Amino acid sequence: MAKVMILGSGGREHALAWWFKKYGHEVYAAPGNAGTAIDYRANIGLDLNNFEEIDNAAVENAIDLVVVGPEDLIVNGIVDYWDRSEAHQEGTKIFGPHMAAARLEGSKIFARRFAEKHGLPIPEYLAFNSGNFRRNLTMARRHLAGMNKGMERELLVVKADGLCAGKGVGVNKSVKDAEDYLESLKRFGNAATDFLLEERLMGEEVSITLITDGISYKAFHHSQDHKRRYEGDRGPNTGGMGAYAPTGLITPELERIINKDIIRPTIEGIQAEGLEYDGILYIALMIQDNKPYLIEYNCRFGDPETQVIVPLVDADPYRLMMDCIYGNLDKADFRLKQAYSCCVVLVGEEYPRTSSKGEEVLYSPSNFGKDEIFMFHAGTKMEKGNVVTDGGRVIGVTAVSDVSHEDAIAKAYKAEQKVCFSGKDFRNDIGYRVRDEKD
Ligand code: AMP
Ligand code: GLY
Repeated sequence: MAKVMILGSGGREHALAWWFKKYGHEVYAAPGNAGTAIDYRANIGLDLNNFEEIDNAAVENAIDLVVVGPEDLIVNGIVDYWDRSEAHQEGTKIFGPHMAAARLEGSKIFARRFAEKHGLPIPEYLAFNSGNFRRNLTMARRHLAGMNKGMERELLVVKADGLCAGKGVGVNKSVKDAEDYLESLKRFGNAATDFLLEERLMGEEVSITLITDGISYKAFHHSQDHKRRYEGDRGPNTGGMGAYAPTGLITPELERIINKDIIRPTIEGIQAEGLEYDGILYIALMIQDNKPYLIEYNCRFGDPETQVIVPLVDADPYRLMMDCIYGNLDKADFRLKQAYSCCVVLVGEEYPRTSSKGEEVLYSPSNFGKDEIFMFHAGTKMEKGNVVTDGGRVIGVTAVSDVSHEDAIAKAYKAEQKVCFSGKDFRNDIGYRVRDEKD
């Protein structure tokens, strides 16, 4: 049994904690949420921006392994910091890529250049990276004006180069919208000094999750997130309103193409660039006309994808991550269950405009944790002994079925009814693309 500290406080982190616990490990969640507090009684109140605090907590609790949930910690160099930390001296390992490799997520321009250099299929793009926002804006406006006259390539998607908490991408339908979005990049400060204009792709999105030591990799089930707020993929982008796995969208032929054109060149590119990558590599794809395109890389687990892929794995996460850290991933025991999962995310009604705060969350624990039905908390906290809402995405209800997608979806929606809080809302069509198919 190992002692594992999971950094973060979302549904992803609760699902990771559940996975470690399933294999008998002792879990500390930092800072965690009400779900991790109730399930493991070991939340550690930490400021995740303060790496020294994390280091001290790891030493005090004699942690064996630190698992990092959110991207900003990785992009800001917690893994590099760890190499010099006291905890590291004491033998505490950390799971995640180094800062130079995490630029695959931390800089969209770096990721596009990497993909181009290593021959991955990507949308057409133009990078505006003078380091001066005004100058970039002038150049980008000039391009958009040329598009209006039909003289320039149509590049309507605007992407801030740096991390913007998932809000730095504008998928625009018109030049006017693109112009407005460009203006709005100011609100992101330095993260959006440089940016991209990109061709708009249309198709199905698929999330690929790999664990890799930069040489070999193991793939979790492909999954699909539902990013838009309302049914039928309408409304604003959110952190993710639900997910299901496996996607059922990938034919064996497409799988072969994804391996050949996306995964292999990515791993080879990581090696060729000399990037130290021990961790999760999440690859977001768009399938357009039966061809996969790279949308983005993330250097951590997805949320809510984790809540559907982790219950479909037969592998001890501690062993798996340690094998990855020690470069033994090729020999790791990692099996996927042939089953189906669905996660319905319960949000406050004003999400994503505002968060839900302080509403009491009522549920009967006896409805969860058995029959492959799990409740993964996200924006919740304990207040005077009660669970209350504390975020936009409040709870994700995941169900697993050995039978079919439809069964997993039906189970998740039945279980969701057992959770109540004022203003509760959710999408009622999670998994709609696979709902009517025979499995
Ligand atoms: P990203 O942060 O790059 O994953 O972008 C956020 C979301 O914007 C993606 O999940 C897609 O839904 C959408 N998106 C990003 N790039 C494109 C593109 N080139 N064409 C169409 N949609 C895109
Ligand atoms: N589900 C999208 C993400 O984790 O970035």
